[in-house]
Amino acid sequence: MRRSRLARYRLVLAIGMVACAGLFASAASPADGKSQYAACIPCHGARGEGVAATGAPNIAGSAAWYVDRQLKDFASGARGREPGDRFGATMAAAVAAVGSDKDRAAVAAYVAALPPVPAPAAGAPTDNGRNYFNAICSACHAASGRGNETLGAPRLAGVAPAYLARQLAAFESGRRGAQIGDRLGAQMRAVAAMLPDARTEQDVIAYAASLKP
Ligand code: HEC
Ligand code: HEC
Repeated sequence: MRRSRLARYRLVLAIGMVACAGLFASAASPADGKSQYAACIPCHGARGEGVAATGAPNIAGSAAWYVDRQLKDFASGARGREPGDRFGATMAAAVAAVGSDKDRAAVAAYVAALPPVPAPAAGAPTDNGRNYFNAICSACHAASGRGNETLGAPRLAGVAPAYLARQLAAFESGRRGAQIGDRLGAQMRAVAAMLPDARTEQDVIAYAASLKP
């Protein structure tokens, strides 16, 4: 009796260990992504700090799930393929260097593990920006601006304000988020339309960018 219980326990343990090994094998490690990341350095910088002249934002510390999804979207054409989207087209061409799903997950893990490098602030945040951010944006991007994986909303805190402003304009114009099946982009399009004027957009972006990543 005692013996068979021990045997059963051992069996359960063994199954558990195999399952865990599977989990670890499928989780991408940042170390694997380091060599992939070499292709990103000319535009995003060695520390993921972004290079303003290329239009590439600071991505260091951005969540792996989000980086992975964006790379997938650039590769599939869900993002960056609208006519006239110069920056999106640059990135869509670059992502071709990332071959497999495994490589993509690995480079995303590497980017996520880089310590965040906040972009220079776009002037002092205003009450108007804070009020709109807390009333609308915080519902999905969190009051801290750190994002929310469950809702698919990325970090905005500390991200280059010029980049964020360009994305907001892209959602408004349909350059981003208008592809059929882009459910999350469509959500963001609806929200972008709620901001009353260019001034408020500027304020809310300046506020989001000023938050600590
Ligand atoms: C030739 C320049 C260039 C290279 C190389 C490049 N990128 Fe980009 N990347 C950009 C630009 C420009 C954007 C902004 C696109 C836009 O405005 O929509 C961008 C955007 C991104 C975004 C979206 C950020 C966000 O917050 O949504 C991610 C993630 C990203 N790049 C990751 C990478 C990774 C990983 C690599 C290397 C495999 C890479 N990029 C290589 C230029 C580049
Ligand atoms: C209903 C949820 C929701 C609300 C509310 C919301 N967002 Fe978003 N936002 C998203 C999602 C989801 C994405 C990612 C879309 C994608 O993957 O392309 C996103 C993406 C963005 C991006 C692109 C970030 C990047 O790194 O490329 C910006 C900028 C942005 N949101 C700004 C805002 C601002 C400013 C507000 C408030 C006025 C706001 N969002 C409110 C869900 C939301």
